[in-house]
Amino acid sequence: MTDDLASLQAETEAALAAAGDLRALEAVRVGTLGKSGSLTALLKGLGQVPAEQRKERGAALNRLKGALEAAIEARRVELDAAALEARLAAERLDVTLPPRPFPPAGPEAGAIHPIGRTVEELTAIFGAMGFGVAEGPDIEGDWFNFGALNIPDHHPARQDHDTFYLPAGPDGRRPVLRTHTSPVQIRTMLSQEPPVRVIVPGRTYRADHDATHSPMFHQVEGLVIDRGITLGHLKGCLIDFLRAFFGISDLPVRFRASYFPFTEPSMEVDIGWNRKTGELGKGGDWLEILGSGMVHPKVLANCGIDPREWQGFAFGMGIERITMLKHGIPDLRPFYESDVRWLRHYGAPVLSPANLVEGV
Ligand code: DAH
Repeated sequence: MTDDLASLQAETEAALAAAGDLRALEAVRVGTLGKSGSLTALLKGLGQVPAEQRKERGAALNRLKGALEAAIEARRVELDAAALEARLAAERLDVTLPPRPFPPAGPEAGAIHPIGRTVEELTAIFGAMGFGVAEGPDIEGDWFNFGALNIPDHHPARQDHDTFYLPAGPDGRRPVLRTHTSPVQIRTMLSQEPPVRVIVPGRTYRADHDATHSPMFHQVEGLVIDRGITLGHLKGCLIDFLRAFFGISDLPVRFRASYFPFTEPSMEVDIGWNRKTGELGKGGDWLEILGSGMVHPKVLANCGIDPREWQGFAFGMGIERITMLKHGIPDLRPFYESDVRWLRHYGAPVLSPANLVEGV
């Protein structure tokens, strides 16, 4: 090998050893073997070499080219391995660290909204009595919300409900935002054969707004259809529910004759409380809490169920109302304001599902 080739080899090998990363390595490669690299220039100059030396010079250049390519490749493998080592060290996963708490403890943990929590509790209590959960649409047909429930046109109950109407459909009837969960009674009886045992928690709408009324609120409906169902079943079921929900085993419960178009007889249900202190369970005062009754034979017939063979009871109550009473929440409006301070205060812990063993 001539001196110029020996020194080019030595220079290049020194530069390769000094190249600390893949970018520096690439610079060395381009400087030597690239289009205008030093070895490439020598190869291009081969034409000017006298003919008798050309063969030997060419062979020497090619050997050097092969040697430098191999040296560059070897350095690339070294640098690749070093880069991987560095990454592994930097991204090391310590499997012995204790797990992060999930969900995070403290204020950022979040909480279950009181409405959702009450629905979980209702589902747990009625679930233990054999009830399933049914649902229906928020936008209802007039017949489902009123007609089938024995609330005819011009019946005062239609005014009482302060209904939100939508523009009329092809039948000339205006769809409504359902004013109660009772239309799901109809949907359930039309879609499933008796016996029926369901609760229906869901959103309801009335044009009303103050400290205890919101245009959107929640109700839970209950419906039982079977053979030989009596007022005794209704009373036993609701007394059991109210005592479990409020957690007061001797909660006084009173049934008071009332009127609803879809039940006969109809009863309002009161619980004992102290009007002055708000304490539930004692105090000698009564607080109305829900409506109920034996399903009206006309409602059964509207759903194609023979009232001589099947009987049933139904009930409906406001979810916000029972939640406010249970937790001593004085105002309805913050339920929908998403104020995290309120939610933290009244919300339920995320990891404590409602059930009858651990409590509702
Ligand atoms: N739908 C009634 C309301 O919103 C509540 C109600 C009363 C539901 C009696 C019932 C019932 O199922 O039997 O005011």
